[in-house]
Amino acid sequence: MPWIVGVSGASGTPYAAAVLRALLAGGESVDLVVSRASRLTLLDETGISFRDAHWRDDLREWLGRGADGKPGTFDVDVSGDRVRHWGAGDLAAGPSSGSYPVRGMLIVPASTACVAGVALGLSKDLLQRAASVTLKERRPLVVAVRETPLSGQTLRHLVALDDAGASVVPASPAFYAGATHIQDLVDFVAGRVLDSAGVAHGLYRRWDGELGGASGTRGT
Ligand SMILES: Cc1cc2nc3c(=O)[nH]c(=O)nc-3n(C[C@H](O)[C@H](O)[C@H](O)COP(=O)(O)O)c2cc1C
Repeated sequence: MPWIVGVSGASGTPYAAAVLRALLAGGESVDLVVSRASRLTLLDETGISFRDAHWRDDLREWLGRGADGKPGTFDVDVSGDRVRHWGAGDLAAGPSSGSYPVRGMLIVPASTACVAGVALGLSKDLLQRAASVTLKERRPLVVAVRETPLSGQTLRHLVALDDAGASVVPASPAFYAGATHIQDLVDFVAGRVLDSAGVAHGLYRRWDGELGGASGTRGT
């Protein structure tokens, strides 16, 4: 069964790319929903226009980018039926129904508008509808919110999502895993998103209980 990956219009399309690459590398199937607003962030952050009619080509190019924007950094196979794409306005799409078989949903990155929409059950597009369905079906929902600072309104929406059973995973990179490149920081966030969904990966070095690993001063 696939994971639904929802990409909303917060900054952070490299986080989505890292999650998608890791899912596919781990043999998982993906149902992809890209919000209308996220096409603007993708264009801004990568220069890629995501087109429904050419989604496979655009996805391949996107997932090939490193977090530093360099094309062709990764070679990702997006052919075949392990990746499906559903238009954000397609409210008759598979993920809009609870009877459509999926494992759960990862929203990465999640905008505050998306957080509000899911918390209030607005279902204004397929991404929000699929998230509401995920909650009502008691499936795992991971919400990688990206905004700073956070308003009281968004904080209340995040509490509502937590109460409803979602995992709220702020896109906040950590520095204890020994990051030396932007990609390491991106992979840390992507890895924590996958941890919350229970998906195995090797995206970052886990804390092993000893100080000094990040700075390379361990044992000195
Ligand atoms: C370049 C750019 C960056 C943005 N970054 C953020 C962000 O980091 N967090 C956020 O909540 N909204 C951000 N927004 C605003 C959202 O895109 C906007 O609220 C939109 O309505 C979200 O719609 P969606 O949730 O349907 O994707 C950004 C917009 C643009 C154009």
